[in-house]
Amino acid sequence: MNEKITTLDEFIFKRQNDFEYAAGELTALLRDIGVAAKIINREVNRAGLVNILGVQGDTNFTGDTVQKLDIYANDKIIECLKNSGMCCGVASEENDDYIPFPALFSKFGNYVVLMDPLDGSSNIDVNVSVGTIFAIYRRTSPSDGPATLEDFLQKGIKQVAAGYVLYGTSTILVYTTGKGVNGFTLDPSIGEFCLSHRDIMIPARGNYYSVNQGYYLKFDLEMRRYIDYCSDENLGLRYIGSMVADVHRIMFQGGIFLYPSTRRHPQGKLRLLYECNPMSFIVEQAGGKAISCDLNRIMEMEANALHQKSSIAIGSPDMVDEMQAFIEKYSAQRG
Ligand code: AHG
Ligand code: MN
Ligand code: MN
Repeated sequence: MNEKITTLDEFIFKRQNDFEYAAGELTALLRDIGVAAKIINREVNRAGLVNILGVQGDTNFTGDTVQKLDIYANDKIIECLKNSGMCCGVASEENDDYIPFPALFSKFGNYVVLMDPLDGSSNIDVNVSVGTIFAIYRRTSPSDGPATLEDFLQKGIKQVAAGYVLYGTSTILVYTTGKGVNGFTLDPSIGEFCLSHRDIMIPARGNYYSVNQGYYLKFDLEMRRYIDYCSDENLGLRYIGSMVADVHRIMFQGGIFLYPSTRRHPQGKLRLLYECNPMSFIVEQAGGKAISCDLNRIMEMEANALHQKSSIAIGSPDMVDEMQAFIEKYSAQRG
């Protein structure tokens, strides 16, 4: 007999007692992110139709300005969060500064959200998977005033929830509140995210490594050695160019994703607060590991600026350990 379908809303509601703070607040916030994800999904799915639906220049047939999808996604999530009333502000890869919500919208707003509204957006025009990443923290500033920069510059270990949505062959929302990781696939026929992947655990190892090998000569010597080792070990190379999609594969098949420092990006390219921290929280909750390529645990890194970058190695625990051992060995040899 088939198992009864559990929708995302039902699941969040059932699990709300796992949470140490006022239960309903986080529940409402996660639900609103789920709603934003459905709206973005609809738009991502229509992306290829834009030109036959009457768009001229940057204006569509109803006279509305057509936005780039990453800006559209950004606006939709901000709108949903603002209306949730549980959030006092948001920081996004798409905005230079954080956005505090007016008291009218955030009277009970004990949370801040940090996000990458559309990850891998250069893949959109060619029908390759993209994603959304979010991290939720409790504010540290007094709840009767506006959100402050400090609310957003917290270490990753302070996250109370994090998740991603992958708009792929199917659309899946994966999230954690620090009690394991669960995945919900969008059933388009009923418009609901349904529990499809319970208690996700990353395999200790996998058969693939994932890195932009085109930059090989721009990586440090230690990293090049490790990549040579992966290749010597007959690991396959898989690199989509959307972190969400690459890490999602690793969640199920195992493997390691690397975005090391390069000469062009000495601190790495990916953003600590919007990409590295939330993906690390999810991966660690699934039994994996995430460190920078100079071997600091991502979630313990100090955040000094909203758009701070970090190098990252993330994925199967044994493979991240092995990479760490390599870097240590070859750095010691270099002295
Ligand atoms: P975004 O589209 O949010 O700017 O992120 C793209 C990121 C990440 O998803 C991906 O892994 C990486 O950039 C790809 O960068 P390279 O093209 O330098 O490999
Ligand atoms: Mn991104
Ligand atoms: Mn982005």
